[in-house]
Amino acid sequence: MLAKRLDCVEPSPTLAITGKVRQLRAQGLDVVSFGAGEPDFDTPEPIREAAIKAICDGHTRYTAGAGMPILREAVAEKFGRENKIDTTAEQVVVSSGAKQCVYNALMAICDPGDEIVIIAPYWMTYRDQIMLSGGVPIVVDARSEPGFVPSVDSIRNALTSKTKAIIINSPSNPTGAVYPKETLHAIAEIAMDAGIFVVSDEIYEKHLYDGAEHHSIASFSPEIAERTITISGVSKSFAMTGWRIGYSTSNKALAKAMATIQDQVTSNASSVSQMAALAALKLPEGEVKRMVQEFDTRRRVIVEGASQVLGCEVPAPRGAFYLFADFGKFVDGSIKSDVELANYLLEEHRVATVPGSVFGGPGHLRLTYALSRTEIEEGLRRIAEGVRSLM
Ligand SMILES: Cc1ncc(COP(=O)(O)O)c(C=O)c1O
Repeated sequence: MLAKRLDCVEPSPTLAITGKVRQLRAQGLDVVSFGAGEPDFDTPEPIREAAIKAICDGHTRYTAGAGMPILREAVAEKFGRENKIDTTAEQVVVSSGAKQCVYNALMAICDPGDEIVIIAPYWMTYRDQIMLSGGVPIVVDARSEPGFVPSVDSIRNALTSKTKAIIINSPSNPTGAVYPKETLHAIAEIAMDAGIFVVSDEIYEKHLYDGAEHHSIASFSPEIAERTITISGVSKSFAMTGWRIGYSTSNKALAKAMATIQDQVTSNASSVSQMAALAALKLPEGEVKRMVQEFDTRRRVIVEGASQVLGCEVPAPRGAFYLFADFGKFVDGSIKSDVELANYLLEEHRVATVPGSVFGGPGHLRLTYALSRTEIEEGLRRIAEGVRSLM
């Protein structure tokens, strides 16, 4: 008999879709995939070279559980310089991806029955990790809000005496929402009034378009910094998803707690990847900007193409690299749900998307634009063909 905690978690649906695409391609089928949540660029060369050097220089042993001191210093410096968060190396924990940072945070703050507020559409891992850590996800619905930015009142109304924390994710996966500074200030006020934590997942902090600005909630005041766990990493910004390096900063007691949990689960993140992450943090800004510019071009292509497919203007996401589009009008005939629609598109038209219900946004499909412009155009052509034959 498996443990009861398995009743409430599911394998990552996005990883499952990526697996299915790989399988179909291995059978020789040509599939366009809007599924994966990762940049398609190669990790920049100076980072790869730093990793090779790290191996040759003997960085192949266990490191301190919370990360190499030199990397924790560099991360603290990055949080200070880029995010305006006043922190120290002692407050930084380096983990095997931002995903592990979120898990460490939840394991450090959640007692059984504690409520954690998440904003729908949300990154599905939050919901599953909250339940794995014994907490209860409380969903605030931002689906019908402009730009998917939650209303401050809806967040305030979701709090109870059991609320332990709120998780925010701006720029957001899956919606691309970027929260305005005023919204973040209001969330900070709410958290301070209620005495709860904020887990701020800022993994897409560099993927901003149309002049959108990223603000770290922990930069607003020492009081809100004290109760915020800020999470980021190198996966998305530096095209390093496979290297598995994320990092967090929080108050010293929380950082120590998160490091203790990690010590007993995975020990340190890969030593070689830590040296690669160090090189990433020293990379000239131009390299990242070039990748973001290319994402911006693709974003325009996908927004225009999706608007044509859907026959209405699709609002352009302002951050991350996802389009979360409403396909509701195609799911009330022979196709009954977004899950069926995604399956149909993959099986009949060889184009992979992620159903919105995975993210608490039924009726939608999430399309990643981390693929070439030619592929985006071909993928949209297949979606158009697929939905046309449903009419
Ligand atoms: C919102 C969000 N946070 C965290 C992660 C995980 O990042 P990492 O690869 O650093 O574990 C992802 C990856 O898809 C994500 O979308």
